[in-house]
Amino acid sequence: MKNIFNLPLSTLLVTACVLCACGHPTEVSVLSPDHSLAFTVHADGNGALSYQVTKDKEPVIDASRLGFVLKDQDTLASHLEIIGTRSYSKDETWETVWGEEKFIRDHHNGMVISLQEKGGSRRKMDLEVRVFDDGFGFRYCFPEQPALEKFAVADELTEFNFSGDHDIWWMSRSTPYYEAYGQKTKMSQLDTAYTPVTLEGQDGRFYSIHEAALTNWAKMNLVPSGEHGMKAELTPWSDGMKVYAEAPCSSSWRTVTVSPDLAGIAASRIMLNLNEPSKIKNTSWIKPGKYIGIWWILHKFQYTWHDGPRHGATTKRTKEYIDFAAANNIQAVLVEGWNKGWAGDWMRNSEGFSFTEAYPDYDFDEVMKYAQSKGVQMIIHNETGANTNHYLKHIDEAYGLYQKYGMHYVKTGNVNMLMDGKEEHDGQYAVNRFREIVEKAAHYQICLDEHEPVIPTGVNRTWPNLMTHEAIRGQEHDAWETDGGNKPEHQTVVPFLRGLAGPTDYTFGTFDYSNPANPQCRVRTTLAKQLAQYVVIYSPLQMASDDPSAYRNVKAFDFIRDVPTDWYCTKVLDAVIGDYVMTVRKDRNSEDWYLGAITDENKRTLNASLDFLDAGKTYLAQIYADGPVASNESNPTSYSYSELKVSKGARLQLKLATSGGCAIRFKCLE
Ligand code: NOJ
Ligand code: CA
Repeated sequence: MKNIFNLPLSTLLVTACVLCACGHPTEVSVLSPDHSLAFTVHADGNGALSYQVTKDKEPVIDASRLGFVLKDQDTLASHLEIIGTRSYSKDETWETVWGEEKFIRDHHNGMVISLQEKGGSRRKMDLEVRVFDDGFGFRYCFPEQPALEKFAVADELTEFNFSGDHDIWWMSRSTPYYEAYGQKTKMSQLDTAYTPVTLEGQDGRFYSIHEAALTNWAKMNLVPSGEHGMKAELTPWSDGMKVYAEAPCSSSWRTVTVSPDLAGIAASRIMLNLNEPSKIKNTSWIKPGKYIGIWWILHKFQYTWHDGPRHGATTKRTKEYIDFAAANNIQAVLVEGWNKGWAGDWMRNSEGFSFTEAYPDYDFDEVMKYAQSKGVQMIIHNETGANTNHYLKHIDEAYGLYQKYGMHYVKTGNVNMLMDGKEEHDGQYAVNRFREIVEKAAHYQICLDEHEPVIPTGVNRTWPNLMTHEAIRGQEHDAWETDGGNKPEHQTVVPFLRGLAGPTDYTFGTFDYSNPANPQCRVRTTLAKQLAQYVVIYSPLQMASDDPSAYRNVKAFDFIRDVPTDWYCTKVLDAVIGDYVMTVRKDRNSEDWYLGAITDENKRTLNASLDFLDAGKTYLAQIYADGPVASNESNPTSYSYSELKVSKGARLQLKLATSGGCAIRFKCLE
């Protein structure tokens, strides 16, 4: 074989090559570092460009199409030849600014496969593939070339054809902002699914499909195709096109993780590894933490966002929240409804929002200075009504003002079906708009909590000031949703579906279950499950959602006060999606461990093996469990607190009530 394919000897060990008559290989394979996964690209110059994947030599993804339908051009998906390859390998460990783990290993074999059409205008396209031991990612790259300059993608043809009609957990795209329940069906029964999707394979394996580094492209959704497959369905522009591009450019990475168990799916860091390292050099101002806020009382309709007799965000109330935060290891206070623009139909009149001018009963300067004096950060709320034109016009003035007071957090809201009255929330337009805001925020040293965002794809590695996102059917639905509140199964699905995409601003922590304005609606979990979720559902910014009055003199609040939001490492000990989850995490800044266990509508007993604890140390287990009479239906707030000295290897039996939970801090004693 001639060495035009740039395959160094080390890579030949991991690369199979089949040549066609004209000397071009028709197939190239990339193996994972442990050789268990093989990703093979097939391009014979005639038929369709495709790939297939084997795991332990068994086919897991059968021949699946690759390529694009382009506007006013021939389809770029067949008659392609492999004209060159460039292989590389990496084994590096990098340190996260914040996250579920302090150190992440990036270990993969990669290859850029250069493709060119055999005839016609001889357009070129590269496929870049990276294969890890626990999955793979690939993306399309369009090199600079006269035959393909500016172009429009009418359809992406990428398929994922599995070896069987596996069970799949998915969120329907018919629900906006990703605020959908996860549901389980056969793959063939999907309508249009957001990614991530998680498959429970008939072959005993779990798979998760998502994407990484979504940048200047449209979000990938999935529709059923073929016998047991799915096809990419990019979110379109309002004119029906999917992506407007100009070479050189590339798509986001399509990712598939593979594992024999859910713990492996949750532990995969492929998405983060496929994103670029931080573009922010000095990250000292980017700090994870907990927050309370003038928020739940608004969603319970006790107080209003707009000014008037029941205005929530008054100077007095905000200062009380700041005092509570300062005294209780809560780093920040969110304040919603402080600024002008909330009266009337704000979704329609989003131009009326000011991001600098406060209502008369909220003294912006006084509150900011007070927070500063108490060492508390303000999370300043900017609802835009999805009017990013208006927001970007005022963003410099707003972020500049917040920075002047030493404040580093903004929560953005984008409530409205269309961005700027025209485009969907995760089409290419929105992806670019959201990125512009993240970059602006970085410039002013602002960390973002985005609501109604584009779902995360690991971009927070590159922009660690993009801290957390809603993109979830979160706890606000427990205040007013017509179905009476999130069903108990929901939180056991989140870590293995939406949660796989990244930080989730779910906002648990409700202790007061009364809801006078909407008595048929409430948090459908026990109080102990509220606590356990701080461990089970990850976000570097976690809210304690209730009003401080609900926490005063309540023992259970000690857990919220203690629990960190930044971790040294994380392990799922046991889980069945939709039934129960038990997760442990080690604090990044101490020797303490935390355990969270939650269940669906069924009560159950879980056995926790404390093998994860560090050897040779003794811990005080501070256990917040469902009380003996606790039940989601009739006694959700009953809980018990107990203490026990334990060390590595001990066993604990956790009794969970219906929609119950158990939260444990393992405080290291020596
Ligand atoms: C929806 C957000 O999810 C919620 O947190 C916020 O309070 C409202 N929009 C108002 O902006
Ligand atoms: Ca929302």
